[in-house]
Amino acid sequence: MTKRNTLISPSILSADMANLAAAVEQAQTAGADWIHVDVMDGRFVPNITIGIPVVAALKKCTRLPLDVHLMIAEPERYVNDFIKAGADILVVHAEATCHLYRTLEIIREAGARAGVALNPATPVSTIRHVIEKLDMILIMTVEPGFGGQKFIPAMLPKVSEAARLAEEHQLVVDIQVDGGINKETIGAAAKAGANSFVSGTGVFGTGDVALAVRELRAELS
Ligand code: DX5
Ligand code: ZN
Repeated sequence: MTKRNTLISPSILSADMANLAAAVEQAQTAGADWIHVDVMDGRFVPNITIGIPVVAALKKCTRLPLDVHLMIAEPERYVNDFIKAGADILVVHAEATCHLYRTLEIIREAGARAGVALNPATPVSTIRHVIEKLDMILIMTVEPGFGGQKFIPAMLPKVSEAARLAEEHQLVVDIQVDGGINKETIGAAAKAGANSFVSGTGVFGTGDVALAVRELRAELS
């Protein structure tokens, strides 16, 4: 089976919001693979961040794929708009929609890669019957809503279970982790089976984006 690539996806949630163009440029120069964009609506999660116009603006200032994480209720209402704006990978939460299968179909039909995120309490079995429609499984390693939280080690077996589920179906599905990923935690997540790593404060909170990306990658080799 094709091997999954190792992907580092810095989250701009922890970057200077008044200077996002510079942030993505720094991440790109540092050798990041994707740019992670956290969209929050104040309903699905208790925080509000950015939306469609910001994704469109970011698209113009980077050649890296935009990995857009929708933490919004009823994401099916907006997936087409996010893809038109430039989302390359679009992730919806299983808990946020009653129509996960249809939502994933819409994402793929619109030409993006489809991902599903699972909150810490949501079992991997939730996606068993939609796995054929998935390009990525995002195991949240914190409760979604805020950057800078502490990695939850109890999520590691869940990462392994998600990787196993994809293997059982002989599918190449990226397994992403998001929340509290830094040079101390990334190794354990990789060992458990993750290949895509979101890091916000672990990259933009460090003061040296290039060094931070290098250090994360070093833990993976
Ligand atoms: C949390 C977001 C994360 C967040 C990660 O709800 O989905 O992407 O930016 O930030 P850190 O890496 O600081 O935990
Ligand atoms: Zn995220």
